[in-house]
Amino acid sequence: MAEVKIVRSAAEAGVIVAERIAAQIVDNPALVLGVATGSTPETTYRSLAELVRERSLDMRGVRAFALDEYVGLSPEHAQSYAAVVDREVTRPLGLQPGNVHVPDGMAADDASSQMYEQAIENAGGIDLQLLGIGSNGHIGFNEPGSAFDSRTRVTALIESTRCDNARFFDSIDQVPTHAVTQGIGTILEAKSVVLLAFGAPKAAAIAAALEGPVTEDLPASILQRHPHALVVVDQAAASELTR
Ligand code: GLP
Repeated sequence: MAEVKIVRSAAEAGVIVAERIAAQIVDNPALVLGVATGSTPETTYRSLAELVRERSLDMRGVRAFALDEYVGLSPEHAQSYAAVVDREVTRPLGLQPGNVHVPDGMAADDASSQMYEQAIENAGGIDLQLLGIGSNGHIGFNEPGSAFDSRTRVTALIESTRCDNARFFDSIDQVPTHAVTQGIGTILEAKSVVLLAFGAPKAAAIAAALEGPVTEDLPASILQRHPHALVVVDQAAASELTR
């Protein structure tokens, strides 16, 4: 069962999670972080960047793997996850660019998906995976129906996800129709996972993920079975929890 922390704000969540990551980096300067994109982890990255500065944390050995990438967006595209990770993670945290990996949205085939899996394995696996959640319960870009043993692969985005993400683009037509994502099986191999969710639009997905049946129809529900899962939510995202 996941540990659940209800906080007052996304800012407070960011501080809590950043402290946890910073402590792990002190213990293990070669920590392997799994990084999510989207709005949700922004406060965590900001708080962690502050801690890196204040405590002069040595980030030279820290590795990072992104969860997913849009198919067809090159790293030069401002909304590619390669660009987002560079802007929000690599630079503010002072990571070595060579230690930061994002699936190749321009190759997006079985061979490059397998190479990504291999790179994670070669790094010794992910120590701490940060996750957001889609309003339909997706994690990474594993949409409802994704197999719990799925691995990194190309997958189609459903319409509601494209609508949710249209705010990052000029129009919904520009939101890619496919993505490369770590699979649920890949994510589950992370030694620990931290799922963050803020705001009322996430409340139903959080309640279903934490209190509903464990089902491939609600991908995040599998986190109930992860041995080291922490869920940090604000009061709005927690509002449909009953237990
Ligand atoms: C996106 C991303 C996920 C992210 C989720 C929530 O589509 N692929 O990795 O966690 O949906 O996004 P947000 O944090 O912007 O609400």
